[in-house]
Amino acid sequence: MTFREDVRNDGLRQAISKLADERFRAIMAGISLDELRALLRGDDITERPNPRYRAQVKSFILHLRPKFYQEGSTWFTHTFRLGYFSVFTFLVEVITGLILMVYYAPAPGRAYGDMLNILSNVTFGKFFRDLHRLGAELMVIVVVLHMGRVYFTGAYKKPREFTWLTGAILLFITLFLSFSGYLLPWDQLAYWAVTIGTSMAEAAPIFGNETNLLLRGAQDIGAGGLLRFYLLHVFFLPLLAILFISIHYYKVAREHSISLPAPIEEKTAPSEKIQSATRRIDILPDLVTSEIMWAAIGLAVMIIAVTFFYEAPLESHANPLKTPLHTKAPWYFWFLQGMLKLGDKTLWGVIIPTVMYVLVLLVPYTDDPNINPFSHTSRLATKRKFSNAMGIVTAIIMVIFSFMGTPNYGVTAPPPVEVVQEFLPEEGKGYQLSICTRIGGCDGGIRAIPYEQLTLGLYDTREPSNYPSGVLGEVMHDFAEEITRRLPDDPAAYGTIGITQAQENLKRMEMTVYFTDPETETEDESSYSLPDYVHEEVHYEGIEE
Ligand code: HEM
Repeated sequence: MTFREDVRNDGLRQAISKLADERFRAIMAGISLDELRALLRGDDITERPNPRYRAQVKSFILHLRPKFYQEGSTWFTHTFRLGYFSVFTFLVEVITGLILMVYYAPAPGRAYGDMLNILSNVTFGKFFRDLHRLGAELMVIVVVLHMGRVYFTGAYKKPREFTWLTGAILLFITLFLSFSGYLLPWDQLAYWAVTIGTSMAEAAPIFGNETNLLLRGAQDIGAGGLLRFYLLHVFFLPLLAILFISIHYYKVAREHSISLPAPIEEKTAPSEKIQSATRRIDILPDLVTSEIMWAAIGLAVMIIAVTFFYEAPLESHANPLKTPLHTKAPWYFWFLQGMLKLGDKTLWGVIIPTVMYVLVLLVPYTDDPNINPFSHTSRLATKRKFSNAMGIVTAIIMVIFSFMGTPNYGVTAPPPVEVVQEFLPEEGKGYQLSICTRIGGCDGGIRAIPYEQLTLGLYDTREPSNYPSGVLGEVMHDFAEEITRRLPDDPAAYGTIGITQAQENLKRMEMTVYFTDPETETEDESSYSLPDYVHEEVHYEGIEE
């Protein structure tokens, strides 16, 4: 019937509401407005046949989902929704990444400027950049935790071996998605972390140099390397991720469903529990509404984090001629950096990590009593003592390797360099003034000393009576303590801070450590110093007395 006929038969009001209902159902795959309300409130269906099943058949997105799960598979404590959160963080990355892409061009002459532009001129630019960076880190955490959950609940066992395999490939993709984004800001942190990363590829046997060239586009990272990392980051790896997430989810949703908790599946739980665990839970409304709630909670947590606590770092412009003191890989690759400290680059940087990764890929196939006499076919924790112990030992080893990857372990820089860099780091805030602790934190490290408190003069740690008053005096005190702590075998070592007026409104502050160089074997004094400049108009945050 046409709209005009409806008006003639039922009146204008009825005809409009019928038209609206038709349009609404067309968009919502057969669900009426009343039904949508009932669905979101968790009420019973409003009409028959069940429009919720119809929607699942008709809508593309819902079509990808199974109609129902068994209740036990959806218990929060079974999966912690970690697979779901992996997809969630990936989607946050896609959306925020598309926004950032609009304002960014992958060329060495532009990239850093574009970052500054995003941070200062683009509306909500900093917000989206922080969200994107936080999302990338969260995605790595969530995917690793998801893998841990699957491992410790034995959910990779028959028939889900292939699901695990595709998951392990997704782990690799996730890590490299995050890492390939690392270079794009074109700052010192990015440039040197990626230089180290790609130089590990160089250590690979036979094709090392070729792999390195392929990644960097030249002997050193430059325009070619930046473009390659950009294409990996925005095109190749996301496509690969979408492909593998689809396969992974198809296996979960269409073939094997999510596993039930082991005591339910193996019927060792009390019968009432088994009964409730095997009840049907419809995707619509129960699961979808809970997923909407988790997405809202996830987004709220991320937004609160970037608004109040989290800030994506941006260091100074990439400088291929100046290697910073402690180049650091992103935290999820610290374990590799730690392993590299153990010796040969090819063995510890390439061969052993590759073997470790292959072992991860093969977990479901090797955890089989026919291959490994310690393993067990059961998924019950009480029966998988060996596998669980292996999982825990691996996690502990990874934490230890990661700690070894930080500059706290096996530091190679000479102590005088460490002392000066601690107070005046080339990047970051470094040393926190004790006044910062008293006033609850301030932001600029030693650079936060107010301009007017930088009294001109040369201060020497051997003459505490000449220390200036105020914050600078406190710094001298800490400086002297640090020299004694870091150079215990050199009692003659001392330090100076010299403050001069470089220009009107600009003071020069130079920190120097004098020490006896053990290598020269003479009593001659060596020194290491770094200058810094403080402008009257530039205020680091937080310190005002
Ligand atoms: C981007 C990365 C990943 C995404 C988006 C993802 C997504 C999912 C989702 C949505 C589920 C359904 C159950 C749940 O929420 O826990 C699932 C289950 C599963 N995932 Fe992943 N996953 C990823 C990475 C991994 C990794 C790294 C592994 C292991 C190496 C893995 C192995 C599995 C297995 C075996 C299941 C079936 C578990 C069961 O039935 O209890 N996944 N995944």
